[in-house]
Amino acid sequence: MLAVVERWKTIIEPFRIHSVEPVRITTVEERQAALESAGYNLFNVHADDVIIDFLTDSGTGAMSRDQWAAVQHGDESYAGSPSWYRFLEAVQKLFPFKHVIPTHQGRAAEKILFSVIGGPGRVVPNNAHFDTTRANVEFTGAEAIDLTPVRDPRERAPFKGDMDVDALERLIHDRGADNIPVVFMTITNNSIGGQPVSLANMRAVREVCDRYHLPLFLDACRFAENAWFIKEREDGYAHKSIPEIVGEMAALADGMTMSAKKDGLANIGGWLAMNDDSLAERCRNVLILTEGFVTYGGLAGRDLEAIAQGLAEVVDEDYLRYRIRSTAYLGDALDAAGVPVVLPIGGHAVYLDARALLPHIPPLEYPGQALAVALYREGGIRGCEIGTVMFGLHPDGTETPGPTDLVRLAIPRRTYTQSHVDYVIEVVKWVAQRADQLRGYRITSPPAALRHFTATFEPLA
Ligand code: F0G
Repeated sequence: MLAVVERWKTIIEPFRIHSVEPVRITTVEERQAALESAGYNLFNVHADDVIIDFLTDSGTGAMSRDQWAAVQHGDESYAGSPSWYRFLEAVQKLFPFKHVIPTHQGRAAEKILFSVIGGPGRVVPNNAHFDTTRANVEFTGAEAIDLTPVRDPRERAPFKGDMDVDALERLIHDRGADNIPVVFMTITNNSIGGQPVSLANMRAVREVCDRYHLPLFLDACRFAENAWFIKEREDGYAHKSIPEIVGEMAALADGMTMSAKKDGLANIGGWLAMNDDSLAERCRNVLILTEGFVTYGGLAGRDLEAIAQGLAEVVDEDYLRYRIRSTAYLGDALDAAGVPVVLPIGGHAVYLDARALLPHIPPLEYPGQALAVALYREGGIRGCEIGTVMFGLHPDGTETPGPTDLVRLAIPRRTYTQSHVDYVIEVVKWVAQRADQLRGYRITSPPAALRHFTATFEPLA
């Protein structure tokens, strides 16, 4: 007998709804008023005024029945809690690194690691740094360098998240292996569209690292989504289990940073892990200063329990098939309707290409912001500008267009149904058909670092 998934085309949510949260259905007038009081910055909008919240997939997913049950087992002992041991076992089952250091989220792991190994004159290569990773590298005076080749957003390559291995080797030659404390690989590659990294690429990077005696770390926030893409797309992996694929990725690395708010299926949490004893000791010393004791980091015992259970659920193939397919369902429908999106569709988000959709709005009038605001005004959909607002301002106060002007629609895990997504498709298509009516924006607040969080805007006449 054929498995259900092979017989029927429709891939259903592999869960039923157990507890519901109301969504307040607002009017265009109410949302216009909310926009005006938020200075047209969607980070300033009250979440109660949002119908579909696609701002981020981080910490916004729904926990399962079994995770909520695990929360009840949370043991809040300061040291040596049984919840810590359950967490440790769940992490090491997937990522058998010798040392695991719990943190309150991914950036805390980054902060600890780079404050120990960063510093002026040091260079950290990554396929693409997430913004907090870059900020934590740069905060120490070190340099963060991205090595994903620039590609056509419309090119449907299977592993667009891969690192350019020749560029890595050139960088090591130019800057000297002694100045490179670690090589990082971000799986999946969030900054360029949630695109996966192949095991072949990880292996090639590992070979270069071995040749120069450099440690390789994973930024593994979306490791399970990456593993699913490997299973589907990379030769030789169709019959391997997700934990086996994750095990291969882990075996290539010397350590990792993790945000459990993504593929930990939890609302908070993270960790830093590694094999190197002396590095672990130095990191634990910082952990105790900034996060907490070594068996809880910045977390409550109940959080450790929720993550342990989440890690068991996230590698389930029915879940991952649904997860990746439901993201593609949104992206493919928009692509078929002629809305420019980054292709192929990534794991956790669909990235709308605002620069291509709004050619009449120059980058310095923020086409991504214009599109994000229009989606909110028309349909109450909150996405996130990833473009000139986020990347256009430089430390010397000058401003240039960002590399792209995208709007990311990031999909929280197990939270929205297909009819929510059908609604998003309808709204995006409606806005795209009237794209020529959208106008650009001007920033009305003084320049600030990370201005996408705080800037206020005014529509241009
Ligand atoms: N690395 C990657 C690739 C990320 O996407 C994020 C967070 C982090 C590290 C930091 O983790 O939030 O737990 O401190 N990404 C979220 C996003 C915020 O919306 O993409 P964190």
